[in-house]
Amino acid sequence: MNRIFSGIQPTGNLHLGNYLGAIRNWVKLQRDFECIFCIVDLHAITVPQEPAALRKATREVTAAYIACGIDPDACTIFNQSTVRAHAELAWTLGCLTPLGWLNRMTQFKEKAGKQRDEAGLGLYAYPVLMAADILAYKATHVPVGEDQKQHLELARDIAGAFNRRYGVEFFPLPEPQIFGTATRVMSLRDGTRKMSKSEPSEQSRINLTDDADAIAQKIRRAKTDPHSLPDSVKGLEGRAEAENLMGIYAALTDKSIEAVVAEFAGAQFSTFKGALADVAVAVLSPITAEMNRLMADPGAIDAVLRRGAERAGAMADGYLREIYEIVGFLRP
Ligand code: TRP
Repeated sequence: MNRIFSGIQPTGNLHLGNYLGAIRNWVKLQRDFECIFCIVDLHAITVPQEPAALRKATREVTAAYIACGIDPDACTIFNQSTVRAHAELAWTLGCLTPLGWLNRMTQFKEKAGKQRDEAGLGLYAYPVLMAADILAYKATHVPVGEDQKQHLELARDIAGAFNRRYGVEFFPLPEPQIFGTATRVMSLRDGTRKMSKSEPSEQSRINLTDDADAIAQKIRRAKTDPHSLPDSVKGLEGRAEAENLMGIYAALTDKSIEAVVAEFAGAQFSTFKGALADVAVAVLSPITAEMNRLMADPGAIDAVLRRGAERAGAMADGYLREIYEIVGFLRP
């Protein structure tokens, strides 16, 4: 049996990178796998969140999942804090996780910065909670981007540590689900940095809530270099902005990068940007419209999440009972 688990944090500003790098690929998976897609609100609070904004962002990610094509009848969509097993299992797994493993995590080092002693325990334990997310459902495959590979590797190590400690073969070791088609979308202001929801400049990213004018304007103002477009893929080397914009075009049109380079060989950036704006608007407008429609009816979104929480909770509670039995907790 193959089961997918993945999640996105409800921290605002869902953007083109989330769509092309993650959600769009999940849509394809739902036909072939049992899929569980989470809105990881417990992870969100590892850094400070405004309560009202957190609630709104949770509904927004849910709306985005559905608007992008994830079918809430075929998949389980829920927010993490509604299923107790995540936090509970994280405790049990944390007791098996050597500090040395956590000390290697590069994301913690980046997020904690120089003020290591000011960082919260939750931020440090973040990867253990992520392992609990995956293992609470015995997920076998986890679609993640490059930046989460180290955390997934740790989840595999923790699963192995549990199995070894208790002499069981309880947890399958979750595999990363890599997509040939996933696009690493970079900032429109700097082609060497990932498009990110935490980047202060709004001009750096195309949000899934942007209207057609905003999309076209951001693409028009995107950073470029002074040359015309190359006539071979090799000609993109060392031209991060050209590579990023052409990669986005390829992803949005489902064409290969070779085909896109051939189509615009020798063209000026201005010509290409016009074409890119057109396809971006064509693909994103229906998604934005559907998100807006869904966000206008929070009750319906909450109903999807309630149904998802029931399904996810039933599954995870069953496994948690078995885990507690293995660990030796008395159920008096
Ligand atoms: N850490 C992931 C991110 O920031 C989100 C996440 C939380 C996740 N739990 C997960 C992803 C479990 C995959 C599986 O992108």
